Amino acid sequence: MTRTLRLWSLTLLLVALSAVLFACGGGDEEADATTDGDKLVVGTDATYAPMEYMDDSGEIVGIDIDIVDAIAEEIGVEVEYKNIGWEPLFPAVDNGEVDFAVSSITITEEREESYDFTDPYYVAKQVILVPEGSDITGFKDLEDDKVISAQINTTGHKVVQDLIGETNPNILAAETMPLAITEMLNGNADASVGDNSTVNEYMENNPNEDVEVIEDDDNVDQEHYGLMVKKGNDEVRELLNEGIAKIKENGKLEEITGFVVE
Ligand code: ARG
Repeated sequence: MTRTLRLWSLTLLLVALSAVLFACGGGDEEADATTDGDKLVVGTDATYAPMEYMDDSGEIVGIDIDIVDAIAEEIGVEVEYKNIGWEPLFPAVDNGEVDFAVSSITITEEREESYDFTDPYYVAKQVILVPEGSDITGFKDLEDDKVISAQINTTGHKVVQDLIGETNPNILAAETMPLAITEMLNGNADASVGDNSTVNEYMENNPNEDVEVIEDDDNVDQEHYGLMVKKGNDEVRELLNEGIAKIKENGKLEEITGFVVE
């Protein structure tokens, strides 16, 4: 065989091969997030360390992500994470851009009117972050003409609204929890209210900041995190519940979080 001929047969072989590969793989790349096959698209707000955040390489990681990965493994589905942001996350679940959301989302009666939740997988509560030496010792003190920051439309925001009034201008509602905390550090707010899961991590990571965490358990409810699906999406909800039950049973959930959730 001449050199040209050999090159030609090689080219033909490659063309044939890629045609076969294309035929096999082409169908999977649909943009639609609905339960096609066994891959689920998961939306999150990756600004909430250690629960969900971006690591240095820009990958979405965290305790919530480990939990969903463990669930996915148990139920034999593949998951793909999308960093949607907090407020856009809710419509993204509604319009099918994502199959479900994981984002330290507290199961509340109000949200249950518009969304469905899995069984709880994590327990949290609201705490108050204040500058060291603050005269704030509990939630009651926030009623005292204090400026308070929180992440918008979170349960922390709601706790503050219930205390001082829904439209009180003393509430600084920030797009993310880190921004809410920054308002307090900059002196624009007297206190910042948020989940202990993230506020405690902030304290650990910033030992040099002159701030402290106030816990006032008698005056806040326990919160339970759940995975959130579109209202009526029993298929995905039940599948996820199966996985949650399994990782509760085999100790995997406790291994990830460090505590037991009933
Ligand atoms: N648990 C709170 C809530 O459901 C805050 C969750 C915020 N999560 C986040 N990834 N930003 O309202």
